[in-house]
Amino acid sequence: RTTISIGLFGFGCVGQGLHEVLERTPGLRARIARIGVKNRTKARALPAEYFSFDRDDLLYDPAVNVIVELIDDADEAYQIVKTALHLGKAVVTANKKMLAEHLPELIALQRSTGTPLLYEAAACASLPVIRNLEEYYDTDLLDSVEGIINGSTNYILTAMHRDALPFAEALARAQALGFAESNPALDVQGLDARNKLVLLLAHAFGLVVGPEELLTVGIDNISPLAAAYARERGLTLKLLAEARRLPDGGIAAAVLPALLAPEHELARVQDEYNGLITQSGFADRQFFLGRGAGAFPTASAVLSDLSALTYGYRYEYKKLHQNQALALRPEATELD
Ligand code: HSE
Repeated sequence: RTTISIGLFGFGCVGQGLHEVLERTPGLRARIARIGVKNRTKARALPAEYFSFDRDDLLYDPAVNVIVELIDDADEAYQIVKTALHLGKAVVTANKKMLAEHLPELIALQRSTGTPLLYEAAACASLPVIRNLEEYYDTDLLDSVEGIINGSTNYILTAMHRDALPFAEALARAQALGFAESNPALDVQGLDARNKLVLLLAHAFGLVVGPEELLTVGIDNISPLAAAYARERGLTLKLLAEARRLPDGGIAAAVLPALLAPEHELARVQDEYNGLITQSGFADRQFFLGRGAGAFPTASAVLSDLSALTYGYRYEYKKLHQNQALALRPEATELD
């Protein structure tokens, strides 16, 4: 086992969370060597010598053997990840937008360079979904994956429903707690959930699609009236992401708001929690529940990926090869 010497890009909510998580995990031989940031004037919680303002200086640093990418800008993140893989430096990222937009190239690049790219933190934060979908259901075929995969919108819907908070105030709280994207439109318009659904589709079914191919409706048009309607009828409004195998062998996938009966497992997923239900041939129905946003829950998934790198783990994308003929069937998506 070699010591992981991390070149960390980004020192925001999750980056700082990772620093603390690593400090408190002495059993893992991993340390942050240097941190790449943009803003030269911002006050930082660590000594100045940690920080680098030059992307290549950090990427090419011989003392750095793993890149952890936790920045906001998806285009910049793509450049960082591409260069790191070409340099043979393993990458851990939480950037679902970047991954969803470039997944085919990134899968090919991992193969051609033989360098792993892990991203458990990019979908459902603390819930171990990517590696489970990739590995566990390798032989027990999945029929469907559905759930709440965006913490901010679930936090907002919970606050509107349970506390009768207005939408804007609920959103402001989700932002203050560090759950929302820096552009919260990505959360409320369902686009963050859509990006995560792209990742779930690849690992659950071996289907790689562009995010724009997925039918997506957010919660930005949910009026106080609609929230009150649901509450009065004892129903709970949730933003669901769903991918389902169809009888003809195709896959239906979408992000849509839905009204759930109180006994539905997902109706009980509150605040920034995420919940994912899988249905497979032999295991039958399974339910994953955990915090879907926030510094430590997201950093916990990065930590797990770092640990996985120490024993040589990489995604094999096995289902991708098995399911060459699989296709998305947007026309078959039914509204709940
Ligand atoms: N903005 C995201 C969410 C962060 O609310 O789920 C975690 O991916």
